[in-house]
Amino acid sequence: MEQLDMIYEGKAKKVYATDDANVVIVDYKDDATAFNGLKKGTIVGKGAINNRMSNFLMKKLEEAGIPTHLISEIDTNKTYVKKVDIIPLEVIIRNKAAGSFSKRLGIQEGTPLKCSTLEFSYKDDELGDPLINDYMAIAIGAATKEEIDTISKYAFQINDYLKAFFKEIGIELIDFKLEFGKTSDGTIVLADEISPDTCRYWDIETGEHLDKDRFRRDLGDPEGAYKEVFKRLGFGE
Ligand code: TMP
Repeated sequence: MEQLDMIYEGKAKKVYATDDANVVIVDYKDDATAFNGLKKGTIVGKGAINNRMSNFLMKKLEEAGIPTHLISEIDTNKTYVKKVDIIPLEVIIRNKAAGSFSKRLGIQEGTPLKCSTLEFSYKDDELGDPLINDYMAIAIGAATKEEIDTISKYAFQINDYLKAFFKEIGIELIDFKLEFGKTSDGTIVLADEISPDTCRYWDIETGEHLDKDRFRRDLGDPEGAYKEVFKRLGFGE
């Protein structure tokens, strides 16, 4: 397939059209942002790691019965994916209190939760991706009730799979963010990425942060953290 014009540039990825109307190319960048773009930087090698890690995990999820946008990896930073209309909701699953959940509810980071939680943010940079509930999402037309049900079911299935998978490599999956899209035939698939940009990974033994919080919070050596997770997934240096 031939790469055509860039159709979108986000904070961490570019998207290109191809000569197939149902296929686009995502190109992962090393750019890192936080706090809705207020903090900007570069994590050298992040684009290649996120591309390959996300593809690796989505392939596993496909095998486990979750439909995803993945078609095939092109090279270190680029992948063919199904063209989708993104459902404008960030779907966040949490297994332990951290980040905005801890702040909003006054619960110390690392506090275990009695059950895993699911929350939605409305994808709108100008509004700062505000927290909304399912009634609000349906009311504003962001998704239908059926879509919310499907997305929620997939999100918890993905949590069960990833939690167990990361535990095997000594990583506790604290929380993560997913995005879903609709293909031209209306199928809901997992889209966007699953990477240290979009998950909190804590080392099971030491509690060390092995994710983008190293950048957000200036904890030092984000490159090393991304490389460490990549290595534990079986990818060499
Ligand atoms: P939060 O605690 O800041 O709400 O983040 C929850 C999870 O979502 C965390 O794993 C990081 C991820 N996340 C994103 O992928 N994109 C974002 O813009 C934000 C704010 C969080």
